[in-house]
Amino acid sequence: MTPEVIPSAEWADAVAGRLADAIAANPSLVLCLPTGSTPLPVYDRLPGVLRARGGSAAGVTIVGLDEFLGLPPGHRARCDTILRHRLLDRLDPPVGRFIAVEVDRADPRSACAAFEAEVSGAGGIDLVVLGLGRNGHVGMNEPGSRIDSPTRVVELTPSTREAAIGYGADPPPTHGVTLGMAPILAAREIWVLATGPEKGTILQRVLEGPTSPDVPATLLLGHEGLTVIADEAAAKGRR
Ligand code: GLP
Repeated sequence: MTPEVIPSAEWADAVAGRLADAIAANPSLVLCLPTGSTPLPVYDRLPGVLRARGGSAAGVTIVGLDEFLGLPPGHRARCDTILRHRLLDRLDPPVGRFIAVEVDRADPRSACAAFEAEVSGAGGIDLVVLGLGRNGHVGMNEPGSRIDSPTRVVELTPSTREAAIGYGADPPPTHGVTLGMAPILAAREIWVLATGPEKGTILQRVLEGPTSPDVPATLLLGHEGLTVIADEAAAKGRR
């Protein structure tokens, strides 16, 4: 498939503008958002873009894409903490609703079922935004994930655990909870974001196919609402 390629210096403004467009087109958007480093410059800009346009996310439901297990509430490496600090706390008026898997429950498996029920009660996900792991993972759907996988507890690969150390979780968690491939593919629209030369090789692999559980992002390729939004550095990179 062909990605949309945006000059690196304009990428974050462009993606923030497109998110504001999506919210303007559907003020009660159910929007699933990732963490990782890729979307952070977009989150930094989105509140200002909405303010400048007189837009509001007051009717929007934000859904957290994934979460580490075993980190206490408020831990700086937790995905919900990062989403709150980098985006939700900066939106004025605040978003209507934030749905995240309740990983602090004694039984995370029942939390997954409750989360899926809450998301479908909200009308299902309109737009899921994804980063791209260097091994082709999306959310915490690591290589080997099936196309029909539900929201579930997953064992993290060494590279994802290493990334968690970078976010400040040392020792890193061994497990996490992720929105599954099935509920991602049930979303009306999917955006895959990729920036920087270090994403070049995996981006190429995803765009060229073939579809394989070894590279979970390729499982998205048949989705009619899929858009890959890359910066020039990722589109040109081959590392
Ligand atoms: C992490 C997260 C993903 C994220 C991806 C890419 O492990 N679980 O949700 O999208 O890896 O991260 P980054 O954007 O930092 O490259």
